[in-house]
Amino acid sequence: MQEITIALPKGKLFAPSAELLSKIGWTADGLSEKSRKLVISNDELNLKFIITKTADVPTYVEYGAADIGIIGKDVIAESGKDVYEVLDLGFGRCHLMMAVPKSRRRENLADYAHTRVVTKFPHIAEDFFASRGMQMEYIKLNGSIELGPLIGLSDSIVDIVETGTTLRENDLEEIVSIMDSTARLIVNRVSFKLKFDRINEMLNQLREVQANAAD
Ligand code: PRP
Repeated sequence: MQEITIALPKGKLFAPSAELLSKIGWTADGLSEKSRKLVISNDELNLKFIITKTADVPTYVEYGAADIGIIGKDVIAESGKDVYEVLDLGFGRCHLMMAVPKSRRRENLADYAHTRVVTKFPHIAEDFFASRGMQMEYIKLNGSIELGPLIGLSDSIVDIVETGTTLRENDLEEIVSIMDSTARLIVNRVSFKLKFDRINEMLNQLREVQANAAD
């Protein structure tokens, strides 16, 4: 059996990803987000799991350090990495949007031109605003994005909304939706050719799990 390395992201997507894979038997003793062991193996099935920072999953897969990864569509789009996106896993549903403090809402989107945006997603944000003829100033932060406009670092944020709680609790209001996202299974392009039989069998098993869940 060919060895397969799977990159799983820390954070919100870890638990549903590990659970889905365990339904097709792809799991390993000690596979936990809290594990201090960096590579967790299942020798019987010749599987290796690595647990990485969310934003790094596409990098591991693009370079073939992992054959397969699970990651949000938003992170794939932001990374610009050349990976083969093979399956929409349906969980991790959220959307990327622009929001501003309610008290500083302007009438039209164009009225925000040339203002400052804080975001973890500067590439997606820039593509979006540029396609509307808007030049903006982007400041990249790695977390707690909502703080930006609250402490005067920026006029707006471009960030993920899942339940809307963070926006509500910080008196922010969505101005425009930029993209929808769910978790995707991504595969290294070379691995998909060299390990086709095993990866394809895995995909079929996952599709079966999805079909059964939909019944
Ligand atoms: C994400 C996102 C928002 C929040 C949205 O942050 O950046 O802050 O979740 O979720 P909600 O609509 O359900 O409130 P995350 O928890 O991943 O942490 P971060 O702030 O460190 O990026």
